[in-house]
Amino acid sequence: MAGGRIELVALTKRFTEVAVDNIDLQIASGEFFSLLGPSGCGKTTTLRLIGGFEQPTSGRILLDDVDVSAMPAHRRNVNTVFQSYALFPFLTVFDNVAFGLRNKDLTKAELRNRVYSALDLVKLRQFDKRRPGQLSGGQQQRVALARALVLQPSVLLLDEPLGALDAKLRRSLKVELKALQEQVGITFLYVTHDQEEALTMSDRLAVMRDGKIVQIGPPSEVYEEPADTYVADFLGVSNLMPVDVVSRGPGSSCEVRLGDSLLSVDHGGHDAPDHAHAVIRPERVRIEEYGSPGPNRVPGMVERLVYLGSATQVFLRLAPGADIQALLQNDGSTDHLTQGKPVHAFLASDALRVLAGGAPVADLGAATPDDQVLQAS
Ligand SMILES: Nc1ncnc2c1ncn2[C@@H]1O[C@H](COP(=O)(O)OP(=O)(O)O)[C@@H](O)[C@H]1O
Ligand SMILES: [Mg+2]
Repeated sequence: MAGGRIELVALTKRFTEVAVDNIDLQIASGEFFSLLGPSGCGKTTTLRLIGGFEQPTSGRILLDDVDVSAMPAHRRNVNTVFQSYALFPFLTVFDNVAFGLRNKDLTKAELRNRVYSALDLVKLRQFDKRRPGQLSGGQQQRVALARALVLQPSVLLLDEPLGALDAKLRRSLKVELKALQEQVGITFLYVTHDQEEALTMSDRLAVMRDGKIVQIGPPSEVYEEPADTYVADFLGVSNLMPVDVVSRGPGSSCEVRLGDSLLSVDHGGHDAPDHAHAVIRPERVRIEEYGSPGPNRVPGMVERLVYLGSATQVFLRLAPGADIQALLQNDGSTDHLTQGKPVHAFLASDALRVLAGGAPVADLGAATPDDQVLQAS
């Protein structure tokens, strides 16, 4: 299905405070686009503005080049799936899905065809006579999806649709949802606070903070090249080390001081301020014997080991005071590590990036070790 282009121009919504702050955004037809950010950053309000459930304070919303800012919700070719499925408990699955079609001019056969095609998309044809109370949470959410898809919108807005489901179900529905979107070719605008959902499903995503968009890009780009410490921290990179930049160049490289250690850094050096953060992903941290020679080594101590099955998460306290984690594959090389053991961490220059400030990490509600264990598993 063609169409489904979304354009937001200086879109702003003010309640008592600004909830959506001057957002410019273009989403292509058929794109799977996510808005990612913590609770309260303005994701739902943005969706409700596009859906027509809220009026913008200023700015414009265009759907396929038509300004719909003043158009009532039911006239926009947009449909929404919410976290709470909002199904009618006394209607069967079939009737729940058929509900939005009842006022359309369809023959009985056409209506049946449309409903069963939508149920086939979400693999629920055999549950057509059940009521929502006789379905699991994941199945109910698929009914809600079918009910939205049956209206053949050019844009589907999804507000944390997997939020109420358990982790395992979320993981399998994520894969299904992406496959479904590719099959129907509708533009999906997906809202979530879960970085893993946004990273796995999206063609592109926008990271939001306080009503603004901080960074837009494909998942790998936002993950590999976070614009600042806020994005890096939000995407689950908790290895942020406060550093001083002591020299710059060539290119984007620089040299930074972390406590008594000098580190060569390959990325981000040209626009970083003098006081910056260096970031490295847990999978890139190497742990070596204490005293191992060579550049970019920082002394530290193993603070805690968390066994994750295929990998071990190692919490390190570096001598300069920074806490970082390493993620090591369980291939036998981790056996010598024990709690309290002094080691050297090798932070390779090509794995290091310096980032502009943003808020201090503590202000972002940095993940506790327990959260981090969950994220990595
Ligand atoms: N109807 C409303 N009236 C007043 N403030 C609101 C209303 N809806 C949302 N807000 C405020 O706008 C901000 C953004 O909310 P929301 O868009 O729901 O964030 P998110 O979906 O990212 O959690 C929050 O500070 C919230 O309290
Ligand atoms: Mg919300």
